Amino acid sequence: MAMASVKSLADTPNLASVPSSFMFATDDDSDSVTAVSQGAEDSIPIIDTSLLIDGTPHQRAKVINELGKACEDWGFFMVVNHGVGERLMREMVEICKEFFDLKEEEKREYETKSVLDPIRYGTSFNPKVEKVFFWRDYLKIMVHPNFHSPTKPTRFREILEEYCKRIREMTRELVRGISESLGLEECCLDKAANLESCSIVFAANLYPPCPQPELARGLPSHSDHCLLTILLQNQIAGLQILHHDKWLNVNPIPNSLLVNVADQLEILSNGKYKSVLHRAIVNDKATRISIAMAVGPSLETVVGPAPQLINKHTNNPPLFKNIKYIDYMGIVQSNKLQGKSTLDRIRLHI
Ligand code: OGA
Ligand code: NI
Repeated sequence: MAMASVKSLADTPNLASVPSSFMFATDDDSDSVTAVSQGAEDSIPIIDTSLLIDGTPHQRAKVINELGKACEDWGFFMVVNHGVGERLMREMVEICKEFFDLKEEEKREYETKSVLDPIRYGTSFNPKVEKVFFWRDYLKIMVHPNFHSPTKPTRFREILEEYCKRIREMTRELVRGISESLGLEECCLDKAANLESCSIVFAANLYPPCPQPELARGLPSHSDHCLLTILLQNQIAGLQILHHDKWLNVNPIPNSLLVNVADQLEILSNGKYKSVLHRAIVNDKATRISIAMAVGPSLETVVGPAPQLINKHTNNPPLFKNIKYIDYMGIVQSNKLQGKSTLDRIRLHI
């Protein structure tokens, strides 16, 4: 018997408290929900993606510089003029809401059985190994190189296919810019990660209202395992990122997308661009929906620090072991979601 979804729990009339299986120990200050809001002098960088494509050489060079700084200082940035239509973004969020509104038995058809299933519906992250569950339901779909989609709601496939295409184009453009920002040729990272057949996992997260939000967690502090994650969300806040040792609330500007550096980029850049810890908190008022597109290398790619960035004989030794992306994903999916524990396994200690 599968565990009940968070949505069905939250829909229970007069639910006044969080079931104990979702309650986090609150004696750990390092993981308290206290966070500060972005100040004007300390706000997430904004990257105008269109300038990478049709800016003058001067504008392009400037954006690449900003992109490099954003990856190095923040590991998080917002993109605007990104080529993913406003209507498409709205429709993507709306149709995900419709999916989560389906009857439980319809969603159960996609219930997670194996982490290799191309479509997986479930609750928390990996309930098999967790002692405390997270206050979120998810729908995860492999959408590239092979495209999959649930058959309900009816328009899901059409919207997802278009969204996936746009995100993929934009991400490859960003990766070209990031490659240049590292002093590499434009196509270097794209080739090293085989992005022509990149793996993309679509992950829709549903965080229903929670009666005691300070006692539960949407997602714990973690880094993402892919190369770059592109996050779209409805208007409800909840994402926090760790920046200079402080948790920061992220309030994205409308129609922007959030991008974060993930583990494979930390490996490829040999630690210059670090994946960033982030988490999701919950609230007692409104349902939050976020959609993460995890764009990674092709599954069979062996990823390691880019050879151009390392030199065994000088002060730039490789900081990570090489690992096949599918093996890396396997480790992530079969363990607890916790900090940068997967990356730590392949770190070389010098
Ligand atoms: C994720 C994630 C954050 C959010 O899906 O990996 O970090 O705000 N999501 O939902
Ligand atoms: Ni994440």
